[in-house]
Amino acid sequence: MFSSDDIKKKLGYAAAEYVDNGMTIGAGTGTTAYWFLQALAAKIKNGLSVEAVPTSAQTARVLREQGVPLKELNEVDTIDLVIDGADEIDPAFNLIKGGGAAHLQEKMVAAASKKMLVLADESKLVNVLGAFPLPVEVIPYGSRQVVRRIKEKYGIEPRLRLKEGKPLVTDHGHHILDCPFGKIEHLHAVHAWLNQVPGVVENGLFLGYATATLIGYKDGTLVYTEK
Ligand code: A5P
Repeated sequence: MFSSDDIKKKLGYAAAEYVDNGMTIGAGTGTTAYWFLQALAAKIKNGLSVEAVPTSAQTARVLREQGVPLKELNEVDTIDLVIDGADEIDPAFNLIKGGGAAHLQEKMVAAASKKMLVLADESKLVNVLGAFPLPVEVIPYGSRQVVRRIKEKYGIEPRLRLKEGKPLVTDHGHHILDCPFGKIEHLHAVHAWLNQVPGVVENGLFLGYATATLIGYKDGTLVYTEK
């Protein structure tokens, strides 16, 4: 049996095999994507030529330390392939992301990408999204009103995400409300409703972005599936 860290490492290194010379790559965020960043950097040291668009400040830092050439999203037209983790994956490859508070930038990068490969261990596979509290990024100003609207609409208690006892501040200066839906049956309706509430910047539902998944199992098996 493999530990969770071993599986993440295997996933990261296997994912790097999907990167071809000359590609513009979206570089994901989180503990699984971290290993992909390491594998990508190793391949670049061995002669692979790519440019990478990071999905967070943390990923940019890791890549910079490894000497990987970075591009801002504003400096590229499109991205060939983004490789990122997820908090939940349903059978149609819809995702919840944002456990690492980076889903705004991750979604912007995914939206600019022709393909998205999602790396996850088997614990992230679900039939219906929502057991993982849905991260909703909000402008700090007046966010109490967003909490009230979500509570009224869905009868759930959004929780302001804290870091070291203070509201967590995202890379783009926002806060995160974690919304314990339990089950989200009508994904597109929830996505659209949340994003029209004044003060909401972006929610963590990724609907229709992922084109492939690479899933790691406890016995060390990795399974690649394309949509
Ligand atoms: C970052 O905001 C997230 O979307 C991550 O991609 C997601 O939380 C998966 O992270 P892990 O690979 O650390 O579980």
